[in-house]
Amino acid sequence: MSNIGSAGTICIRRARPADAAAIGAVHAETWRNTYAGVLPDAYLAALCPRRLGSAYGQVVLDRTHGHAVFVAVASGMAGGEGGGEPPEVIGFASGGRSRRPALAEGEIETLYLLEDYRERGVGRRLMRAMAAHLKAIGCRSAMLWVLRDNPTRWFYERLGGRLAAREVIRFAGLDVEQNAMVWDSIESLLAATAPAPDR
Ligand SMILES: CC(C)(COP(=O)(O)OP(=O)(O)OC[C@H]1O[C@@H](n2cnc3c(N)ncnc32)[C@H](O)[C@@H]1OP(=O)(O)O)[C@@H](O)C(=O)NCCC(=O)NCCS
Repeated sequence: MSNIGSAGTICIRRARPADAAAIGAVHAETWRNTYAGVLPDAYLAALCPRRLGSAYGQVVLDRTHGHAVFVAVASGMAGGEGGGEPPEVIGFASGGRSRRPALAEGEIETLYLLEDYRERGVGRRLMRAMAAHLKAIGCRSAMLWVLRDNPTRWFYERLGGRLAAREVIRFAGLDVEQNAMVWDSIESLLAATAPAPDR
């Protein structure tokens, strides 16, 4: 756990079934603001937090292929009665063994953070939790897929990811290009996501 200024604390922990509804809500909100103009408006408008939440109920329990979900939880943020809001899931990440072992052994499958909490180091901490998990299950390298037109691609480049493959996939009735970012050594991702004094 670390302090985020005087605004409260944000901790990263393994997700629990009780987090599923909140993860579904973060998914719907972050997809709408991240993929506006990239994926079809009708698809984004139809995202249903309740349905997503019930799907995440299963995802949180899934342990196949070393799968795990981590959440970022904010507590004590200013504004609520008594000086703080109740703890709130503000982001999540998930992954496990890679679906494309030719590219890397481990894979980060999702990483999403509410807009109000970005650019404070929380995305890096979620990536670190995933990197540590992938290492713990024996993965020596890591990868993820990012849409070519995702405006946050810079983040992975900042963390040392290498563009290793491009491919076009059909998503929501649209052909979209996705890029594979690879860390050839899991240690390099751990180093890039280490707390500031150790980087
Ligand atoms: C991608 C995402 C998780 C990053 O999380 P974040 O908490 O905002 O990122 P961090 O604060 O940890 O930033 C990490 C590094 O990126 C840099 N960075 C942050 N915002 C930046 C910006 N707008 N432009 C350039 N660099 C930026 C930071 O400076 C930091 O680098 P440094 O400390 O080494 O200088 C978050 O932006 C997000 O949820 N985006 C929308 C969803 C999405 O696209 N997910 C990925 C799907 S594949």
